[in-house]
Amino acid sequence: MTTVVAQAEPVLRVDHVSKAYPGSPPTVALSDVSLDVREGELLAIVGPSGSGKSTLLGIMGTLDRPTSGRVLVHGSDTTTLDDAALSGLRSVAIGFVFQQFYLLDGLTAWENVAQGLLYRGVPSAERRRRSVEALERVGLGHRLAHRPGQLSGGERQRVAIARAVVGAPAIVLADEPTGSLDSAAGAEILQLIRELNRGGTTVALITHSEPVARAASRQVRLLDGRVTRDDAGGDAEIAAAASAPTADVEDEAGAPSARPGTP
Ligand SMILES: Nc1ncnc2c1ncn2[C@@H]1O[C@H](COP(=O)(O)OP(=O)(O)OP(=O)(O)O)[C@@H](O)[C@H]1O
Ligand SMILES: [Mg+2]
Repeated sequence: MTTVVAQAEPVLRVDHVSKAYPGSPPTVALSDVSLDVREGELLAIVGPSGSGKSTLLGIMGTLDRPTSGRVLVHGSDTTTLDDAALSGLRSVAIGFVFQQFYLLDGLTAWENVAQGLLYRGVPSAERRRRSVEALERVGLGHRLAHRPGQLSGGERQRVAIARAVVGAPAIVLADEPTGSLDSAAGAEILQLIRELNRGGTTVALITHSEPVARAASRQVRLLDGRVTRDDAGGDAEIAAAASAPTADVEDEAGAPSARPGTP
């Protein structure tokens, strides 16, 4: 069911990556991890605390460099790029969502989203237009001028997701995107991520939660810095993906649900 037509280049390739943090002894966080993410995938990287998930996400997102191995974005080796080139690549190719949202408190929702376009040379009126559109896509068209302190946790994460997707990146990397939310808000965020994925956004999300992982159509399992399994399957209903069984979200059986602002 998750068979994908063979494509020339994966969006992102992790090629025999290892990562050791310096120290005596060094901490080996990743050992010989290889992984391809194909366009249009919704992939969960799942593993217990300390298994190397955030380390892997940081390396996939070019925020951090591997000790050995390579990360290729659309076939180009990023490990040969200097920091300036890397941040340029990151600003166009990769969107990030973190457990703690990382919104700027002094900015409104749309201004936070517009931050996602800052390094792209988009004129300011266009930045605003696209930010509003991204907020409408995540169901927050009615909260454009709210500041993070005036938003619920789930709404803050929606703003962060809008910021991640506003520039139409090749891939969105999400580190425990539901980790700070209650089960109902978490289920809604997972639902939103699945809707964005159905609309074509490639997403890798990391989680320690098996139920959350099952909301994705592929699960890569990490243990002690190694990939122990890489399975297609899952795509479980969102109700089951929430951390509590009573989450008030229905499975939509593959039908894209209506989104405000979506043509
Ligand atoms: N900056 C660092 N310096 C030294 N060791 C680190 C550093 N960051 C992470 N580690 C170690 O690397 C290993 C993997 O950490 P990582 O944060 O990737 O795990 P994780 O799977 O994201 O865990 P969690 O689910 O708790 O967030 C851990 O043993 C951790 O202690
Ligand atoms: Mg982590």
